[in-house]
Amino acid sequence: MNSLIGVLMEKIKSTIGNIVSPGPTTERPQEKNVFKPFEERRIPIEDQFMNWNTMIKAPYDKDRVDAYTRTRVILMNGIENNSVLTSHAMARMTENEEIKRAMALIRRADSQHQETVDWLNPGNQSILETTIGYEQVAVDLTANLAKNEPEDYFRQVLDFALLEDFDHLYRYSLLMKMLENKDAENIVQGKTEIKPGRPTSVEHRHPDDEHRMHFDKNSVHVKSWMNYFTIVSGEQQTMLYYRTHGANLEDDLARKLYAEIAEIEEQHVSQYESVGDPTATPLQMATLIQLNEAYNYYSCAQTEPNERIRSIWSEFCAHEIEHFNMCNDLMVKYEKMDIRDLIKDDSIEPLIVFEPNKEYVNKVLEEQVHLRPYNMKFVPEESLPSDWKSFGYQSKVNAGGVPSEIVEERWKVR
Ligand SMILES: [Fe+2]
Ligand SMILES: [Fe+2]
Ligand SMILES: [Fe+2]
Repeated sequence: MNSLIGVLMEKIKSTIGNIVSPGPTTERPQEKNVFKPFEERRIPIEDQFMNWNTMIKAPYDKDRVDAYTRTRVILMNGIENNSVLTSHAMARMTENEEIKRAMALIRRADSQHQETVDWLNPGNQSILETTIGYEQVAVDLTANLAKNEPEDYFRQVLDFALLEDFDHLYRYSLLMKMLENKDAENIVQGKTEIKPGRPTSVEHRHPDDEHRMHFDKNSVHVKSWMNYFTIVSGEQQTMLYYRTHGANLEDDLARKLYAEIAEIEEQHVSQYESVGDPTATPLQMATLIQLNEAYNYYSCAQTEPNERIRSIWSEFCAHEIEHFNMCNDLMVKYEKMDIRDLIKDDSIEPLIVFEPNKEYVNKVLEEQVHLRPYNMKFVPEESLPSDWKSFGYQSKVNAGGVPSEIVEERWKVR
C-alpha cells in the first residue's frame, strides 16, 4: 500500500513538474565558439512535427529565470516568426510547385517551433515585464552583433540603433514603476544598465532617412549575413509585440508610449532590412534564413544554463540543419549553386552570446549619441541641413506632447 502511494506521489510530482517546473538550473555548459553547420546532426523533417503536449511545455518561472534565458526565449521567438513570415511572403510569389511544397513543410515545423518557444514565457509575466525583456534583448543582442560585425558600415548601423533601444529600456522602466510599482532591475538582474540613451523624442525620422547602403553578397562575410537576419528578426518581433500589445493596456499614457516606440521599431526594421543584399535570390535568402536559425539555436545551446531549455535549443538546432539542407538541395537543383559558393566558408564564428555589454554601450553612448542619419551616412546633429526631412516629421508627430518625455516628467514630480 505504502509503495503504491509512493508511486502515485512520484507520478503526481512528475506531472506537476511537467506543468510548472522551471526546470533544473545547472552551471553554464562548456562553451564552443564556432558553429560548423555541415558537421551538425540533422533530424528528418517527417520526425519534426509535435503533438500539442510536446509542443507546449512548462513555462519558465519568472522569479527564478536567468535574465539571459528570458532574452534567448524572446530572440528565438523572433527568429522563428521571421522564418514563418518570410516563407509566407515567398509562397505568394513562387510558382514552382516543388519549392512551394518544401517551403510549406519547413514552415509548418518552424511554426510549431515558434509556439514551443514563445509559450515558454509564463502567463503571469505582465506585458510590461516582457517588454523590459524585449529591450534587454535589443541592447545586449545589438551590442554583441556590433562587436563581432566584420563590415564597418553595418557595425555603425548597429551602434546607431543600439542607443535608441537603450533609451526605450529606460522609458519603459519608468512606466512599469508608475503602473505596476515594479523595479525593472529585477528583470535585467544588473546585467544591463537602465538610463537615458538617444532620447526617444528625437528618434522619429522621415521614412527617407531610414535607408541604408547594402552590403555585397559577393564579398560579404557569412557572419554579416547571420547578423543581418538575426537583427532583422529581432527588431521585427519587437515591432510586432508593441503593435499587438499596446492596445491591451488600459492607461492612456501607456497606450501612447507603446505606439511611439512601436514606430521607432518600424523604423529600425526598415533600416536593418535595407542593409542586406537584395539581389540574393529568394531561394538563397530562404537557405540563409534556415542557416541562421540553426546558428542561433546552436549559440543558445552553448550558453544556456537551464538544462531543460537547453535541450529544446539543441533539438531545434538539429531540425534547422535539416531545413537548411532541404533549401540548399533546391538551390543546387534549380539555381545550380551550392550555399558554399555563396558563403565561402564551412564554419561561422563567433557565436551569439548574451552577456553584459555595459562598457561597450557606454563608449558608443559617449561617442555617438549626437549622430543622425543623413544621405545614408551618420553625421553630427549640428551639421544637418535646416531642411533635413526628419525635422519636419518630428515637428508633426511630437506636436501636442511626447509620451516618452511625459513618462519621465511624471516620474520626476512624484
Ligand atoms: Fe524553426
Ligand atoms: Fe529597436
Ligand atoms: Fe527552420
